[in-house]
Amino acid sequence: MVKALLDEGHSVATLDNLSKGHHKAVLGGEFIQGDLGDPSLLKQIFSTRKIDCVMHFAAFIEVGESVQDPLKYYVNNSGKTLELLSSMKKHGVDKFILSSTAAVYGEPEKTPIEECQPQIPVNPYGRSKQFLEAVLQDCREAYGIRSTCLRYFNAAGADASGLIGEDHNPESHLIPIVLQVALEQRKKISIFGTDYPTPDGTCLRDYVHVTDLVQAHLLAAEQLMDGDQGGIYNLGCQQGFSVRQIIEMARKVTGKSIPEIESPRRPGDAAVLVASSQMARSELCWSPKYEDPEEIVATAWKWHQAHPNGYDDKV
Ligand SMILES: NC(=O)c1ccc[n+]([C@@H]2O[C@H](COP(=O)([O-])OP(=O)(O)OC[C@H]3O[C@@H](n4cnc5c(N)ncnc54)[C@H](O)[C@@H]3O)[C@@H](O)[C@H]2O)c1
Repeated sequence: MVKALLDEGHSVATLDNLSKGHHKAVLGGEFIQGDLGDPSLLKQIFSTRKIDCVMHFAAFIEVGESVQDPLKYYVNNSGKTLELLSSMKKHGVDKFILSSTAAVYGEPEKTPIEECQPQIPVNPYGRSKQFLEAVLQDCREAYGIRSTCLRYFNAAGADASGLIGEDHNPESHLIPIVLQVALEQRKKISIFGTDYPTPDGTCLRDYVHVTDLVQAHLLAAEQLMDGDQGGIYNLGCQQGFSVRQIIEMARKVTGKSIPEIESPRRPGDAAVLVASSQMARSELCWSPKYEDPEEIVATAWKWHQAHPNGYDDKV
């Protein structure tokens, strides 16, 4: 996001406490190491810069951990965002974009999922974001803080430059884990559940490239800058690919055998999560460039090959 904003000629300040992220992933602009929930730091940031729009990505993202330790998620994802919004209100900053998630839907009634479907998240991570969406609605009405919530489906891939990619600890996303098997950093890829009501019995997910997510943020920011009230949009490619299909694509892209092992289902995994992203396409004029997941895997492979130890490698 920072790279794209700088390419478009914007000034960018990034706030991250580096609890999970990497300074090296921020390729320019100003970097402030600090916590989202620190009111004095926020006061200093907002009072010394003219900020047009806040894009809020910071969160904890491990669904399983959110079940084990829900307060960690409610405090960090929800509570600290309230500090951010309070500070924005005090300093008259009125445009906000939230990284929301498909997890707000829980087990969907039908697919593809439209934004108007019931939101019944099945874990604290999803609820921590659902709460924020409601808070943003209230802040729009009460204080005129206009906002857009972007509900990402499965974010994947790496910047085409090969300079920025995925490096989570622990890694829980399918594509990086499969590629770690290709790099022989793991022995096998576990397939959790092979008896789902899907064509090959494994879960179907909608993979959306990070560059396309970035593009959606640029469009959402433009919409807010034009005076729009903002909205809520799903971001996905409207196609489901199974775990087995992704593993097969990774074999093709990497030329490696990638051993797999069938494991039991994990609690809370929906069989099919596929977006309808018609609203983002029509209202934001969003048009994802990476609709073929094999290309998404290829961009991720470029990053993982060049950075087998993630950002610990010299960039
Ligand atoms: N990765 C996905 O598939 C996916 C899907 C849907 C939504 N999202 C959302 O997108 C956003 C980014 O996800 P990601 O995969 O890049 O995760 P990430 O862990 O790589 O990035 C989150 C960043 O937030 C920072 N952070 C966390 N708490 C903070 C705090 N209190 N103060 C300051 N910085 C803090 C971390 O250090 C990290 O750099 C998150 O809000 C996540 O919920 C991600």
